[in-house]
Amino acid sequence: MATRTTRRTKFLLSEEEMPQAWYNIVADLPVPPAPVLHPGTGEPIGPGDLAPLFPMELIKQVVSQERYIEIPDEVREVYALYRPSPLFRAHRLEKALGTPAHIYYKYEGGSPSGSHKPNTAIPQAFYNKQAGVTRLATETGAGQWGSALAFAGAAFGLDVKVYMVRASYDQKPYRRILMETYGAQVVASPSPDTQYGRSVLAGNPGHTGSLGLAISEAIEDAVTHPGSKYSLGSVFDFVLLHQTVIGEESIAQMAMAGEEPDVIIGCAGGGSNFAGLTFPWLGRSFRDGKKYRVIAAEPEAAPSLTRGVYTYDFGDTAMMTPLIKMHTLGSSFIPEPIHAGGLRYHGMSPLVSLLKEHGYIDAVAVHQRASFGAGVQFARTEGILPAPEPTHALKVAIDEALAAKEAGEARVILFNLCGHGNFDLSAYEKYLDGTLEDYEYPAEKVQEALAALPRR
Ligand SMILES: Cc1ncc(COP(=O)(O)O)c(C=O)c1O
Repeated sequence: MATRTTRRTKFLLSEEEMPQAWYNIVADLPVPPAPVLHPGTGEPIGPGDLAPLFPMELIKQVVSQERYIEIPDEVREVYALYRPSPLFRAHRLEKALGTPAHIYYKYEGGSPSGSHKPNTAIPQAFYNKQAGVTRLATETGAGQWGSALAFAGAAFGLDVKVYMVRASYDQKPYRRILMETYGAQVVASPSPDTQYGRSVLAGNPGHTGSLGLAISEAIEDAVTHPGSKYSLGSVFDFVLLHQTVIGEESIAQMAMAGEEPDVIIGCAGGGSNFAGLTFPWLGRSFRDGKKYRVIAAEPEAAPSLTRGVYTYDFGDTAMMTPLIKMHTLGSSFIPEPIHAGGLRYHGMSPLVSLLKEHGYIDAVAVHQRASFGAGVQFARTEGILPAPEPTHALKVAIDEALAAKEAGEARVILFNLCGHGNFDLSAYEKYLDGTLEDYEYPAEKVQEALAALPRR
């Protein structure tokens, strides 16, 4: 029989090869992170200030200087339902683009809830359960995070209450039903269930909500219900830490493919998926001097990294969080109701912001029509329907591949396809029937919000 040469499409690790530890970039940062400040005193906060919100094991991870933090066995057991996740070579997309570039994507949409979010929902539920917490309150923008925490709550026997941004609640009823199927209680935010929600609704009963606003409601809920803590799906250091399991796996898988990426791309809302893929690679470059071009893709309608100011601001709209140094559009800024609900956030994780400010990473803003166009091209070539958020990274990856074609270079591109879009069909329908609109950068609204930044 004639021998066949087969090209590899998937690079798969066995369950035994799942990472044993998360990677803590703080150990390798060339510049020290800015302290988180107490809004009343202006002084750096200590672990005690965070104790009403989070269990001590998570707080310890925020202050840890260790390069690697062991993943508990109980967490690895639930991770094993979907990890290690596959790395794909996008041969069919490359062919359609006619590019000499090699495009690889890590696919996180195969998790039970459909995105990278369980990578942190599972450890957060585990550490809370271990600390005797019985109930978690959280917000969700796209519904992906709420679904992940609802699943993790079911896995560890915790009650979960989700404040779902009104725009998303209306766009994605099936996400709500998924969360309820896992056993969570879901309410549209702004909601009548919190004092802050009631005050917002009194001023504007039709408010479309925002992530910053839903965070305020979830925090108020957690601190006013005994046995409850707050859980969040992005921005905070421990969330980014848990996501590094993605990048750690991708390093082993790119080695299986026998390639090194030239360009590494992730979409960024609060920064956790971006950090999850890129931080282990950035760590290598800080330690060994290897150079990668690392790009965060964000929406034009909420372009915190490309147009925001690097300063101290609140993480939420009601100004309940500590002050964090980040790229921000102003915590009172409410982005337009784009379909990438997970990217509708006024700020950016402080670690990602620090890296951008010091020139270690780049950022690009993308309009939603262009990113949905990339999503459709991907579905027609690779078969997977991407979530609206990673279509931003995909668009940047396609542009890179086309630039490589123009330059006649076989660049190696790696991006994270951090979720599927099977619950986002109403957005795809709008794209396909031509009614999906772009929102221009809302300069005036941002100026207003920036004028209200906290004074220090
Ligand atoms: C699929 C998906 N990607 C990206 C994001 C953005 O969050 P982050 O920047 O923390 O990854 C979200 C948030 O909900 C999401 O659901």
